[in-house]
Amino acid sequence: MFEGGDGAGKSTQVKKLTNNLEKLNETIVLTREPGGTELGLKIREILLDQDEFEVTPRMEALLFAADRSINMSQVIKPALEKGNVVIADRHIDSSIAYQGVGRELGAQTIEDISRWAVQDIVPDLTVLLDVNAATGQSRLQKKDRLDRESELFHEKVNQAFRDLATKNPERYIVIDASKPIDEIAELVLNTFKAKRK
Ligand code: TMP
Repeated sequence: MFEGGDGAGKSTQVKKLTNNLEKLNETIVLTREPGGTELGLKIREILLDQDEFEVTPRMEALLFAADRSINMSQVIKPALEKGNVVIADRHIDSSIAYQGVGRELGAQTIEDISRWAVQDIVPDLTVLLDVNAATGQSRLQKKDRLDRESELFHEKVNQAFRDLATKNPERYIVIDASKPIDEIAELVLNTFKAKRK
């Protein structure tokens, strides 16, 4: 899974890892949250791309969890059962960081909701692209509802990701997102290969 604050460069690295692994003859299933499925795209729109209806923090937490549950049952679980490699742009830890810590709903509460939603399936490897909030924000071309939160909110979120990495060293690698793109891609690939052995 790739995690990190907004503007960390996750999508670029998702593409790089996919290309690198395809060269190694791995079968890759790509997904993202929110919006990795057709139904999830509708939830993504409610969460990020509309101002017509109010979305409270609790609604937000449950909608992200609902999207994740759909993604798990329709995409991730079937792919893992076939022995494919799943690469995801965001997963549970985004909810812990954004809703649990950023929205102050409680990291443990949000983790419990999401774990339940995904039937306790945990990623083998999580890559945290660690970005400074101001740098991340300045890289964004289009800002969704969460991107428009304050710099303080994004700093809290980024710190929450770092704390998650410290708490789960067995599945986390933290990479400074300001490093050159190809250097990051190589680090990710080598970490993946070491895990796969
Ligand atoms: P993306 O633009 O990287 O796809 O992310 C969508 C936005 O949704 C981003 O600002 C982070 C946020 N988000 C949450 O707040 N909670 C979550 O659980 C997920 C997956 C994303």
